[in-house]
Parts: sequence; structure tokens; C-alpha cells
Amino acid sequence: MTKKVTLIPGDGIGPEISSAVVSVINASGADIDWEVFDAGLIAIEKYGDPLPEQVIESLRRNKVGLKGPITTPVGKGFRSVNVGLRKALELYANIRHLKNMEQIASRYSGIDMVIVRENTEDLYAGVEHMVGKDAAESVKIITRQASERICRYAFELARKEGRKKVTAGHKANILKFSDGLFLECARKVAQEYPDIQFEDRIVDALCMNLVQFPERFDVIVLPNLYGDILSDLGAGLVGGLGVAPGANIGEEGALFEAIHGSAPDIAGQNKANPLAMLLSGVEMLKYLNFETEAKKIMAAIEIVLTQKDKITPDLGGSAGTREMAEAIIEAMM
Ligand code: NAI
Repeated sequence: MTKKVTLIPGDGIGPEISSAVVSVINASGADIDWEVFDAGLIAIEKYGDPLPEQVIESLRRNKVGLKGPITTPVGKGFRSVNVGLRKALELYANIRHLKNMEQIASRYSGIDMVIVRENTEDLYAGVEHMVGKDAAESVKIITRQASERICRYAFELARKEGRKKVTAGHKANILKFSDGLFLECARKVAQEYPDIQFEDRIVDALCMNLVQFPERFDVIVLPNLYGDILSDLGAGLVGGLGVAPGANIGEEGALFEAIHGSAPDIAGQNKANPLAMLLSGVEMLKYLNFETEAKKIMAAIEIVLTQKDKITPDLGGSAGTREMAEAIIEAMM
């Protein structure tokens, strides 16, 4: 059955990597009808708004989107598109699958984990103010509703993907109220999933363990701030931002995107690596139950990554964005 997907190519390298990714996904046989919308700098130029209402309407209608990177203008008074999308669609779960790929250089092997980050509250709720002129205060908001929701998401994901263990990260030994509540919610939700092992770790020790033996972790669930930091730490463990897919899942939709930025330094030069966005597209295909097509693309990526003349310069190769996409398509045939 045809699935409609909202495509936001973004700006900078966004349009070139999006076009590469769409060509690969279409060639995989996944029956997708793309609804394409501008957002970011391109939309400011065309409509005077970085996030036109029709983008949000399309995402609400289709429930699934794929997004390229978007430049956040500094100090120009425009709202951040990424924050705007997250709020409009209540994208409460940020998901990062982290897996070693044999062909991508990393100091580790055997990593296969998912970081589930709460995306709506904590110190990122935006409640901040100056106290006089020499002190500042940021309020850390943790609610039972959001904590239980994200923990339940982590356990459901573990079940769906056949994973064995959920680890909750927190600092409840010091932040007894806020992180204490998060931990209480994680423990309560864990009881509903006797088939999945549960443990909790204090976040500083968790960081140390992740660097020492990342292969021991399976699903890690965290409040927003720790989740932000640990998901980039996790990307570093498997070879960097260029190979880490991202997904934001919510009540009204799911938005898949690479986690790197718009790379203005190489935009328009056919040099950008499409892999992170393609891996995000593969996560999207799995979400849409196009499992066969997702597997087909992954197998082709693994073949192409062994061929230096078929991959982009950041991966040590000599090919352009388009040529890398063409090689992946060829490897699928
Ligand atoms: P960046 O990730 O765009 O670039 C950092 C470095 O990595 C650059 O040297 C760039 O050339 C390289 N790079 C990034 N993606 C690459 C790819 N696919 N292939 C090859 N090389 C790649 O980070 P930066 O420069 O801090 O941000 C640029 C803009 O992107 C900013 O306006 C920022 O706000 C925005 N941004 C947007 C994100 C999003 O839309 N999700 C996420 C992160 C940043």
C-alpha cells in the first residue's frame, strides 16, 4: 500500500543528500508518495517564515516525515524550525540507534544499542531567568506523565525489537525530587514488562561504563539533558555523526532525520555524505513496516562501504554524493 511521507529537504547540503536518499528509497521498491515542503532558509526567502503552516499540516496528515538538516539563523528573531516541529507535533521521544558498521572506523566493536531521550521537558523546558544581575536560574522540570511515557516507549521498543534490557540513567542520588521522580517512574513501568531486564545507573557512572564496555548496553532511557549528551557520546562510539540516524517520535507523527547539520562549508559541491540521512530513512522504512526494503538498503550500504571509489571523501573515499547513491542503487539490483 502506498504510504504518504512528508519530505523536508532542508537547506545547505539538505537538498543534495535528500535527493540521493529519495532515489535510493524509491529504488528499494518501497511504495512511498513524497509530499515535498520547504522549511528553513529557503522558506524564509519564499514565504518569510522558516516553518510555514502547510509543513505542519502535511506532517499531521501523513504522520511520518523525513527531514534534511536546516540552518538555524543566529540572532535574527526567527524561531528554530527543529524546536517548532518538535513542539507542534509533540515529538516526545528522540531515538538514536547506534550500531557498529564493520567498514566505519571506530575503536569499538559489538555495539548495538538504542538511546531513548525524553524530548519535551527537563532543563530544556526553557524556564530560565536572571536573579538580579549576577545570578541566573534554570528550572528543571520533570513530570510523572512525561517520565512514564518515555519509559514505556523504551520498554515497548525493547519488546518490538527483541531487545533484552533497559537501563535508566539518572542522578537521583543528588537530584532527589526531579531525577528521583524519573527513577520512580522507570521502576514502576519496568514492573509492567517482566520479560525485559531492567537496571538503573547514575549518569556519570553510566558515561564511564559506556566508554569502558558499550557492548553491554541494549536500550538506555534518559531525561532530556543527559539524553542529549549521551546520544552524541554514543554517536562517537560508533564512528561519529556521519553514521548516526535519528528519529523523533510523537503523539501526532514521527520525524526522521540525520543528526548532523547543514554543512554550509560543502553545500552544493556534491561532496556531502548521504549515509546518516539514508540510515534515518531506513529507520523510517522500518517504522512504516517496509522491513524487506530496509534490509535491502542496509545490505547494499555494506557492500558499497567497502569500495573507496564509491564513497564520499569524509569516509576516506573519492566519490560524490550522487555517485555514492547510484552505487547503493546498483548494489541493490
Ligand atoms: P554541521 O554538522 O553542519 O557541520 C560540521 C562539520 O561536519 C562540517 O565540517 C561539515 O562539512 C561536516 N559535515 C556535516 N555533515 C556532513 C555530511 N553529511 N557529509 C560530509 N560532511 C559533513 O555542524 P555546524 O557547522 O555546527 O552547523 C551548521 C548549521 O546546521 C547550523 O546552522 C546549525 O544550527 C545547523 N544544524 C542543524 C541540525 C538539524 O537540522 N537537525 C543539526 C545540527 C546543526
